[in-house]
Amino acid sequence: MIDQAQSLRTLAASVNESDRLDALLYDEPVRQSSGKCTAVTVASGKGGVGKTNISINLAIMLSKLNKSVTLFDADLGLANINILLGIHPSFTLQDVTEGRAKIGDVAMRGPGGITIVPGGSGVESLANIDAGSLKRLLREFSALETSSDYLIFDTQAGIAHTVRAFAAASDRQIVVVTPEPSSLADAYAAMKMMAVAGCSKIGIVANMVRDDKEGLDVYKRLATLAKRFLGREPEFLGALPRDPKVSSSVIRQTPITLAHPDAPFSKSMHRIALKFVGQPVTVGKESVFGKLASIFRKA
Ligand SMILES: Nc1ncnc2c1ncn2[C@@H]1O[C@H](COP(=O)(O)OP(=O)(O)OP(=O)(O)O)[C@@H](O)[C@H]1O
Ligand SMILES: [Mg+2]
Repeated sequence: MIDQAQSLRTLAASVNESDRLDALLYDEPVRQSSGKCTAVTVASGKGGVGKTNISINLAIMLSKLNKSVTLFDADLGLANINILLGIHPSFTLQDVTEGRAKIGDVAMRGPGGITIVPGGSGVESLANIDAGSLKRLLREFSALETSSDYLIFDTQAGIAHTVRAFAAASDRQIVVVTPEPSSLADAYAAMKMMAVAGCSKIGIVANMVRDDKEGLDVYKRLATLAKRFLGREPEFLGALPRDPKVSSSVIRQTPITLAHPDAPFSKSMHRIALKFVGQPVTVGKESVFGKLASIFRKA
């Protein structure tokens, strides 16, 4: 937390600017949860299509709608969320799985009132944990679930077994797609993987589109493929425009929805969050981390 504030300070051009950034990022209180946690996996197939930006900004928008949100970095490669937000955690998830730290030491207060779990490479250690440690860990993780209305997993690109596990253990899934043909093909592959894994609540977000019409066209192409070959259509959550303010916010390590709430991307993100919250979803009784552990053990 101190590291994070410091890194933002070095980025800021003046003292005033630094104060403004801190206020922007950390003025929001952490929300109280209603007691029912919906786990959400964000995936894409193709890399670099906006999963991490969408996960962070959806989390912030849901928090603005008074939901308690935990954002979990489930990308085994680069620690995406840390980089995008300038966070330098003292402990990793691996420290938790190996008993050197508790989940409370790893979970950090993020911008806009959200909580962040910088999982990163430690996620893999979840797969190799012994039964005794697993029991302890599941107890710790379930505390994370009881304190969240939404638990959002930002995953890596592709359809690796870990992405499949997070998707299958989650109550709902978001597939991010852009208008590029390769992104469409990979998004279909991700949807197919999810359908085979038994996921039934898949939503599509079309990112980097020219306008809403292009977003809807992208969705329709995916939905047609899914209907024909997978026997069911995903839901359309909405489209996000290509917006230069996304990149400038990434450079400043400040989420666009906080830095530029009136930017086209932020307004569309707000609409998506409203739609997302409004869609009914059946939340499983079993702990998402319990499901994850049994999927990992079977793999
Ligand atoms: N709507 C948008 N408008 C403009 N640029 C965007 C938009 N969405 C994402 N980007 C840019 O695309 C790049 C990739 O975004 P991001 O890291 O969120 O993708 P990702 O899918 O998480 O990537 P990876 O597969 O590597 O995890 C970033 O530089 C980001 O600034
Ligand atoms: Mg990412």
